[in-house]
Amino acid sequence: MRCIDEQGYHFEEWLTPAEIAGDVKQVADRIRADYRDKEPLFVVVLNGAFVFASDLMRAIGDDIRCEVTFIRVSSYFGMATTGRLEFIVPLQQVVDQRDVIIVEDIVDSGLTIHQLKAHMRGLGASSVKVASMLFKPSKLEYPDAKPDYVGREISEEFVIGYGLDFDGFCRNLDAIYKVKK
Ligand code: IMP
Ligand code: MG
Repeated sequence: MRCIDEQGYHFEEWLTPAEIAGDVKQVADRIRADYRDKEPLFVVVLNGAFVFASDLMRAIGDDIRCEVTFIRVSSYFGMATTGRLEFIVPLQQVVDQRDVIIVEDIVDSGLTIHQLKAHMRGLGASSVKVASMLFKPSKLEYPDAKPDYVGREISEEFVIGYGLDFDGFCRNLDAIYKVKK
């Protein structure tokens, strides 16, 4: 089993590249079936989702006509129950009357997705769905942020690789590694 040491923490390989590819294919198959007669707009949440999005779009292949655009946001908690979204890279594309699929690396509390969905709806999107490589159901605080398409569910452990970072590093790892306590 492959291991990575990063900033004093020990990580062990949890999903191999082949297992990830299987998860991505399963997500791609479902999206392809659901959007066969539509022209979805994929909105990729930078930075983490760029690796998953790249594999996902190619796994979907040429059966559906689609577009892709990118957004980069940062969530800040104000008072306990409110959060606001700062757009570091704002949306460049018109989403009015589009079928939007937000692409995320991982849904944790769900705050980011909760706010992004509201933002897309406010801009007139016909539908807004979420595809996330990973999902931590036990940490979800915003029920509407439950992803529609999930590569794999995970418990509360911190993971890195395949786009997921530890203080900006490790996004380049081709597997997903779990922190070892
Ligand atoms: P949320 O808004 O609480 O759902 O947070 C989602 C974001 O938190 C993800 O897009 C990641 O950037 C980050 N995140 C949550 N869990 C992990 C993890 O285990 N590893 C790396 N990043 C994570
Ligand atoms: Mg992210």
